[in-house]
Amino acid sequence: MQIITYPDHRALSDKVADHILSVVKKKPDAVLCLAAGDTPKLAYSLLVEKAARESIDFSACTFVGLDEWVGIPPENEGSCYYFLQTFLFKPLGVDPAQIHLFNALAKDLTAECKAMDEKIREKGPVDLMLVGVGMNGHIGFNEPGVVWNLNSHVTNLDDTTRSVGQKYFKQSTPLQKGITLGLQHLLESKSVIVMASGLKKAQIMRAALEDPVSPAVPASVIRKHQQGLVMLDQEAATLLKSSIQRPAK
Ligand code: F6R
Repeated sequence: MQIITYPDHRALSDKVADHILSVVKKKPDAVLCLAAGDTPKLAYSLLVEKAARESIDFSACTFVGLDEWVGIPPENEGSCYYFLQTFLFKPLGVDPAQIHLFNALAKDLTAECKAMDEKIREKGPVDLMLVGVGMNGHIGFNEPGVVWNLNSHVTNLDDTTRSVGQKYFKQSTPLQKGITLGLQHLLESKSVIVMASGLKKAQIMRAALEDPVSPAVPASVIRKHQQGLVMLDQEAATLLKSSIQRPAK
């Protein structure tokens, strides 16, 4: 695992966008799993600009979903589906046939999980997984206490996730459960970026990177991945011991 810090959110987002592009340039039929949320939003907008400028073709890529709020319809602006369509897939011109997201309205969510695991087995392994980190250290909806070796599963959301998650919705929205890839998917991905930005993530990133690796802080799983890359801005890295930080190139 490598940790790289950048001076600010813009510089971090720029490098994350470059990293995604480099994966697709090397492997035009890459399988990508890219998180929703505030953390990667600017990176996606920079990715869209750079892809247009450099004529990078995403038409052979496969996109698999990381997670979704159970019971929230795709047209709700707080859903991961809505976010990814709006900020990534539509601007990049990705064909719906390339996209495999969780249907969080499915009657049989266990079948939905099986179908996702099967899709990843068929298309995978995932070439690049880009994830953010929740205020409680979650990855996707792998909440504190999760078992490391799970594949797709439905989970009860942590209190922190339910309250912090309100920021994505226009009105107060009951959030009870999530459907998510498991940390086993992360461990089996060829490469993983954990991205975190801002002072509010400093405490949890210190715990993830410096406390013992433990399911209590799911983001600490990145330390078990040989090709794990933690990309932070200076603020999110504030509480890390300087000895393990690497300067941005
Ligand atoms: C979103 C996701 C979540 C977020 C995390 C951080 O698809 O999987 O785990 O990455 O909650 O959210 P932001 O980036 O909004 O701080």
